[in-house]
Amino acid sequence: VESMRIGVLTISTTAAQGQRAVDASGDAIVEIVTGEPLVASVVERAVVTDARDIIASQLRAWAASGAMDVILTTGGTGFAQSDMTPEATRDVIEREAPGLAEAMRAGTAAMTPMAWLSRSVAGIAGQTLIVNLPGSPKAVRECLGIILPLLPHAVALLSGAIRQH
Ligand code: MTE
Repeated sequence: VESMRIGVLTISTTAAQGQRAVDASGDAIVEIVTGEPLVASVVERAVVTDARDIIASQLRAWAASGAMDVILTTGGTGFAQSDMTPEATRDVIEREAPGLAEAMRAGTAAMTPMAWLSRSVAGIAGQTLIVNLPGSPKAVRECLGIILPLLPHAVALLSGAIRQH
C-alpha cells in the first residue's frame, strides 16, 4: 500500500475563535498517524467551529478534492446541543462504515466507559473515508489504537488498489 494521505479536521468553537492556544487533539492525531509503523502523511489540517453546515462544507470540499484517502475529525460527537459532527458527516457520506465507529466504542469502553457516549460515525464520500473521533487527546489515542491497523486495507479497497482478495 502506498502512503495514506490523511486530513485532520478539528471541530471546536473555542479553537476556531482562537481562544485555545493549541489544538491538542489535532496534534495528537498528527503525531500518531505519522508515527511508525504506519505509512501516512497529513496533507491537510484545519480547525472549524461546531456549526453543522460549516463542518459539512469542509468535509465535502476535502472529499471532492481527491487529495485525501482518509479524513479524521476530532470533537463534537457528544450529547451537548452543540455536538453536530456526526450529523454533518452524515450530510456528506454516501456509504456508511459503521464497523469503525462500533470498534472504537466497543474496543475502548473497558478503559473508558464514557466511550459509549460518543455518537461518532464513519463513512465514505467518493473515494475518501471519513471517521469521527471524540474530542480529547486521550480519546484520540485510544480510538486510533483500535482503527489505525484497519485503515491501510480499507484505503486499498476504497481506491481500487485491491479489487479481489
Ligand atoms: N472514547 C475514548 N476511547 N476515550 C475517551 O476518553 N471520551 C468520551 C467519549 N469517547 C472518550 C471516548 C466522552 S467523555 C465524551 S463526552 C464523548 O466521547 C464525546 O466527546 P466529544 O463531544 O468531544 O466528541
